[in-house]
Amino acid sequence: MTPVVKIEEIHKIYDSGEVPVHAVRGVSLEIVKGEFVALMGASGSGKSTLMNLLGCLDRPTRGRFYLDGIDISQLDKNELADLRNQKLGFVFQGFNLLARTTALENVELPMLYGRHRRMSGSQIRDRAMECLDAVGLGNRADHFPNQLSGGQQQRVAIARALVNHPQVLLADEPTGNLDSKTSVEVMGVFQKLNASGITIVMVTHELDIAHYCKRNLILRDGVVVRDEFVKDRSIAESELGKLRAAEAAAKLTAAPAA
Ligand SMILES: Nc1ncnc2c1ncn2[C@@H]1O[C@H](COP(=O)(O)OP(=O)(O)O)[C@@H](O)[C@H]1O
Ligand SMILES: [Mg+2]
Repeated sequence: MTPVVKIEEIHKIYDSGEVPVHAVRGVSLEIVKGEFVALMGASGSGKSTLMNLLGCLDRPTRGRFYLDGIDISQLDKNELADLRNQKLGFVFQGFNLLARTTALENVELPMLYGRHRRMSGSQIRDRAMECLDAVGLGNRADHFPNQLSGGQQQRVAIARALVNHPQVLLADEPTGNLDSKTSVEVMGVFQKLNASGITIVMVTHELDIAHYCKRNLILRDGVVVRDEFVKDRSIAESELGKLRAAEAAAKLTAAPAA
């Protein structure tokens, strides 16, 4: 099976400032379809730099990167942008939704761009609704972002990342702005999508969140220092069940005695 992501000895050196920064120092990695990877590491260890390389938002200074078998060093800027639109979906820490635009319209956006789009307005609308349904927000389609909770906004952003049928979903600290219960809900959405075959790579610095993924990679100073499969990973549905039971029990004990 062709790996969805294959990188060989990639380096990234930022040389815009006075002193060049060697942010990624020879990382090699293969990710196959169906994986769910957490990229971990201290602040400054190179997580975002590596994600930007994986996301074709930046090119490596050295080394090779094959996305779904395609050598990206052979592509010009427009071809790279097309590849990014076709193969990748992005989720960000701050949701990045347009404020004066409904949930549905936010999700439609990626389908309105791209040079090879041939979808009609109603096809675009149907596909956007399908993705909102997939994240459990079909009933919030005409809400604006400020009418949605943080977790709901992140689910809209996930729906938006899905519309072009990406090979890989890339998420940089997707739960960074969410409370712990909402974070588990978002991990539940990711686990459901992953179970349906979508490959996910996400950055997190929270160990308990990484435990919902199948594989954990740890970066230190631009190098992968650990790469292991997660044993007994957490399942969001059962963790949420426990939380609900604990809340219900707390309510019972808080009720006045009969
Ligand atoms: N655009 C840039 N120009 C120069 N240095 C950068 C740039 N982006 C990141 N760096 C540096 O590269 C290193 C890795 O940063 P980053 O990938 O953002 O780490 P992380 O996401 O793990 O916190 C840091 O030393 C950071 O200061
Ligand atoms: Mg970062």
